[in-house]
Amino acid sequence: MSSEKNIYAYPEGLEVITLSSCDSTNNYLKKHAVEWQDRFPVLVTADLQTCGKGRDQRNWVSTEGKGLYSSFGFFLERGGNLPFLPLAAGIAVIETLEILAGLEAGLKWPNDVLCEGKKIAGILIENVIHQERISCVAGIGINLNHSPADFPGELAEKAISIKMIRGSGYERDVVNRLLACRFFHWLERLDEPGAVVKRANRYSGFLRNREIGFHSAGKMIRGIFKGINDDGGLLLQEADGHTGLYYSGEIG
Ligand code: BTN
Repeated sequence: MSSEKNIYAYPEGLEVITLSSCDSTNNYLKKHAVEWQDRFPVLVTADLQTCGKGRDQRNWVSTEGKGLYSSFGFFLERGGNLPFLPLAAGIAVIETLEILAGLEAGLKWPNDVLCEGKKIAGILIENVIHQERISCVAGIGINLNHSPADFPGELAEKAISIKMIRGSGYERDVVNRLLACRFFHWLERLDEPGAVVKRANRYSGFLRNREIGFHSAGKMIRGIFKGINDDGGLLLQEADGHTGLYYSGEIG
């Protein structure tokens, strides 16, 4: 483990719930979202997840002691800037990796975080809408202490951890504290979407003007990544020369 001191404090007013195990920190928070209304914001973090979830019904490998498995529960007013939340969460993760471990990570729209071309963190945002408010659950998984052999099957080629880059890993709680600070900083800036998009464009600069495969609505489209537009959508210059704008989908 790194000898880094635990110099960051959790943001004031954030309740932190640490579990030894759960199916998924997102599920755990969603289950309690209504009952815990008065306790939000809440951070649920677990040593391991028995059924960690990724986007698009994928599984998120959640072995004890290897990764950070955390979910933030908080409110956004309806009509707030929900579309920018995935970008804001990605930015918070990238800043955390940069400040703590000096890593230069990139954002693959909307919110995959890559280092050295491989995935180091993933984000799954789920919302529970009730009355005038939206309860948001932002689940974040960061690969901290994995060796290559800890990633099963084809993940071994595609995933990376802080330890694999820096030689030493990081303690989950140290990372959680800084992550929470950066996450709530960017949540407060959601009402300045221009700032969020500008930063997201900076962090996805490594992909700009590169050819990508983009999966959207069951199709795979090849095109040139042109960045993120003012509404948080992906701009893709397609084979016929026009620039498509996408609000959902995944870069392949
Ligand atoms: C993805 O890239 O596919 C998203 C991965 C999100 C994983 C995190 S780990 C904490 C939280 N709980 C879950 O079950 N998933 C998210």
